[in-house]
Amino acid sequence: MKVLRTIDEIRAARRALAGSVGFVPTMGYLHAGHLALAAAARRDNDKVVASIFVNPAQFGPNEDFEAYPRDEERDISLLEKKGVDLVFIPDVEEMYPDGLATSVDVGPIGERLEGEFRPGHFRGVATVVLKLLNIVAPERAYFGRKDAQQLVVIEQMVHDLDLPVEIVPVETVRERDGLALSSRNIYLSQAERESALCLWQALTLAREMWTRGVRDAASYRARMREVIEGEAVAAIDYVSVADPNTLEEIERVHGPALVSLAVRIGKTRLIDNLTLGF
Ligand code: PAJ
Repeated sequence: MKVLRTIDEIRAARRALAGSVGFVPTMGYLHAGHLALAAAARRDNDKVVASIFVNPAQFGPNEDFEAYPRDEERDISLLEKKGVDLVFIPDVEEMYPDGLATSVDVGPIGERLEGEFRPGHFRGVATVVLKLLNIVAPERAYFGRKDAQQLVVIEQMVHDLDLPVEIVPVETVRERDGLALSSRNIYLSQAERESALCLWQALTLAREMWTRGVRDAASYRARMREVIEGEAVAAIDYVSVADPNTLEEIERVHGPALVSLAVRIGKTRLIDNLTLGF
């Protein structure tokens, strides 16, 4: 596996690859969720390229850009074991030498849910993903359903801007008890780790309600909120039952519905989701 740190180097190494290329963009501090994307890319393509870049453009001024966990050496060895061919690890200066005059505005879907609590977040995500897709030029790119809104935003961008890449979604990888793997789980104390389970409990409750035939979206939101409010350290940013394509809140749960939530557990902000009626 080759580690490339400049755009010129990764472009040259990518040009030298024969066959189809699958791409896995990450911010590093890799866990089994990221590795599931690498495994899917390995399964579908002749070659696999990954990137590790903690993208300052997608963090708000009071967010955890500086504190975001990093362990490059371990990440490199995990990717190598997964059979990744190239890993691109640029620094901020390499990606944004002159700041950014141009950026990608993803429209209303970037302003809902996460976008409401993290203004500018999806502009930063879409812009860096477009840059990475232009640099790596893969046939396929892999994104986790864990970040459901991010996936919708990227699919929208690829569609609107005619990007020649297939976006492949990968299911959320969870701990045995249901907690979705996240690089940010490292911030949780042991007590908070237990409280964090309320996200999955709320989602499981939504799934049960779906199975029981409950169709009124407001009662999903209310019951899920009750579960989370039962945890003293948990503070809700949003609990949403939305159309999976437009991300607009719905009143009745008929066809597929994206149930998603963002909850602060102490100082750690966690998100999770599942799709009903799929
Ligand atoms: P990061 O949070 O490192 O996640 C990289 C990819 O791994 C994303 O597609 C994310 O959805 C996926 N992922 C994270 N946790 C997962 C889990 N438990 N199961 C399955 N997939 C999981 O998302 C980003 O980085 C950035 O926004 C990025 C796309 C790299 C742009 O900077």
